[in-house]
Amino acid sequence: MTAAEPPPGAREGGSMNGPLPFHLLPQTAAVAPDGHLHIGGCDLLALAEEYGTPLFVYDEAHLRARCREAVAAFGEGVAYASKAFLCLAMARLAHEEGMGLDVATGGELHVALSAGVPADRLVLHGNNKSTDELRTARHAGVGRIVVDSFDELERLAELHAHDGLVPKVLIRATPGVEAHTHEFVRTGQIDSKFGFGVPSGDAARAVAYAQDSPAMELMGVHMHIGSQVFVADFFHQAVEVVAPWVREMGLPELSIGGGLGVAYTHDETAPSITEWGIAIVSACRDAGLRARVLAEPGRSIVAQAAVTLYRVGTIKEVPEVRTYLSVDGGMSDNPRPVLYGSGYEAFLPRAATAPRPRLVTIVGKHCESGDVLVRDAQVPDDIAVGDVLATPVTGAYGHSMASNYNKVLRPAVVFVADGQARLVVRRETLEDLLHYDVAD
Ligand code: LLP
Repeated sequence: MTAAEPPPGAREGGSMNGPLPFHLLPQTAAVAPDGHLHIGGCDLLALAEEYGTPLFVYDEAHLRARCREAVAAFGEGVAYASKAFLCLAMARLAHEEGMGLDVATGGELHVALSAGVPADRLVLHGNNKSTDELRTARHAGVGRIVVDSFDELERLAELHAHDGLVPKVLIRATPGVEAHTHEFVRTGQIDSKFGFGVPSGDAARAVAYAQDSPAMELMGVHMHIGSQVFVADFFHQAVEVVAPWVREMGLPELSIGGGLGVAYTHDETAPSITEWGIAIVSACRDAGLRARVLAEPGRSIVAQAAVTLYRVGTIKEVPEVRTYLSVDGGMSDNPRPVLYGSGYEAFLPRAATAPRPRLVTIVGKHCESGDVLVRDAQVPDDIAVGDVLATPVTGAYGHSMASNYNKVLRPAVVFVADGQARLVVRRETLEDLLHYDVAD
């Protein structure tokens, strides 16, 4: 078997009921002569047998390629936004490939440090960092603290009065650009809990404070306009607001955050990290900016690297209404459809190139009618109870937002490469569910 030629019509978006479009799959996806889909040289059906379902399967080559692409586009300081998917193996992989890590809480900081990522490769975010989080980050020597509020500036000054440490900081600016993305993941507009508004003058006041303060070394400005943004124009507009200002102050760095969108369904396409990088860097240069341009991609590094495997448990027909197909996971391993109305595709790894003429609603096993994974999924006609079903593009904000709702066990995660699978996060056990209870 070689890297599979996608079936006709599969690469260019495909159609609603055609075979799964291959552009949504990880880069080593290949169809074996028996029709099974392999990723990283591993048969997905065999992985489901060995590790159980639901299971997150990440293509290590895909992850590494995206990290390298980001480093090539932005240079060494580019950070992986670890909120998209974080475990020890992922932190190490991003570090090995030359990326820094963006950590948004003391918890993410702890995992990154535990993975052996040097503190100076970390960028700490958060609109409400606690004194403890700031203290820990400063003592560890994190590379950058992205300051988000006047309260945080004061907190840093107080900490400095005690221990004299001087962290390098960026000021998070809110440029006043409304990216057209879901309102829950939009952050560049003025009405936001994040950062210092540029139009109000708060951002300039924060910069002045940081420049005068002995408690921090101001390195530059940060902005993040939102997530799952497809239109380069929004990044352009944000750069136009912030770049002249960074240029005038002679600050050495501008981070444009993350936010590059990815395709989840057959009808979507997205710019590559390379295209995004070129657009951003040239917008900065057009604005006369000489500062180092940094970024924090999350989703675009990991989303398409993974598929989730489920087992079909029941198929219920409601005549003339819809067919419900229940799988053994749901909103606890992928809350994105419920939270943002996000769309996904589905396919059968045993018949990866099969047409998908049948319309079903894929639901999870939680005690909620809203527990929908794919509202209108096209699947092969012969789908049956017991089948392993896969949803592609689940590498970002799935495992990281997973929960134990209904005491469902959080899935395992495997990395696959060169015909080998390695378990990087084990499946939770029933014992784990009792772990935090304090018995009488
Ligand atoms: N930098 C900052 C400061 C951020 O807040 C984020 C994402 C990123 C970088 C990475 O953005 P990305 O490249 O992944 O779009 N749970 C939502 C996404 C929330 C994003 C939060 N911040 C979802 O599932 O769509």
